[in-house]
Amino acid sequence: MSLPQHVASPTKPDLPQRRALQGFGRTILGWGEGNLRDLPWRRTRDPWHILLAEVALQQTQAARVAERFVELTTAMATPTATVHLGKAGVISLWSGLGYNSRAVRLFQTAERLVESFDGEVPGTNAELQSLPGIGPYTAAAIEAFAFERDVAVYDTNVARVIARAVLGAPTSTKVGFELARSMVPKHSGWLFNQAMLDFGATLCTARSPSCERCPLRRRCAWRNSGDEQDPARTTAGTARPQGRFEGSARQGRGRMIERLRRSSATFEELRTATGWDDDAQVATQLNDLMTAGLLSKRGAKYFLG
Ligand code: ADE
Repeated sequence: MSLPQHVASPTKPDLPQRRALQGFGRTILGWGEGNLRDLPWRRTRDPWHILLAEVALQQTQAARVAERFVELTTAMATPTATVHLGKAGVISLWSGLGYNSRAVRLFQTAERLVESFDGEVPGTNAELQSLPGIGPYTAAAIEAFAFERDVAVYDTNVARVIARAVLGAPTSTKVGFELARSMVPKHSGWLFNQAMLDFGATLCTARSPSCERCPLRRRCAWRNSGDEQDPARTTAGTARPQGRFEGSARQGRGRMIERLRRSSATFEELRTATGWDDDAQVATQLNDLMTAGLLSKRGAKYFLG
């Protein structure tokens, strides 16, 4: 049975029309023209440097990545230079950015680029996604920010803006990504996507959106609905608060990596670095770090890489 054309499906709320989406897109683009943050990876189109920044930005705040960007891109200037640094060197450089297994994947990506792509970052989405640690979001970010393509970049900030302003309702990643694609103004993929990320990060923030100075105020579906409940809270892909860091296994693992940056160490020395008194807990975390390729053991000593 098919419904008459003018009756909306009872299970699928109507999605905004293409023209409305393009209107949202142009407004965000216009906002970006005057409000983009001055971030160092926005001054380059070097695909490897942008790949590096986007991997770091996956789980580390923009301000912290910005502080380290010059250091990282100087030491890892090219995939070949990164391979020459060695895995331990890359892990050591990554220190302080957190989630250290990203350093291992970055090193593996550099190796793949040298082996299979003449030391260059490839240009297609499928090739980018074939690299370690590069998923659909990071691949799209490299396409938009290095190759200036009109693709949609979709992350937690973008998901929040779409759920609130465009839909006024929670959404899936599939639908949200599709809507984001329809919003990209032609030939403006670079600026639109940078603007969208900053719009979510600085204006339509998770905790206290600045609705009074928002250029989408009059069109915002959430505001117009009058609902108290924030649709972004239950939207797929929007950030969940991270667990406590203080006293966590993640903190202990970070301290072991920090200790190994100085020199190789014994089990006892690593346990001292964590501040833990439970040998079993130390052993579990050491095993996890070895499985992730972050450290290895020779004789009684542990080494980075
Ligand atoms: N988060 C992920 N990519 C980003 C970018 N290019 N600029 C700012 N924040 C980001």
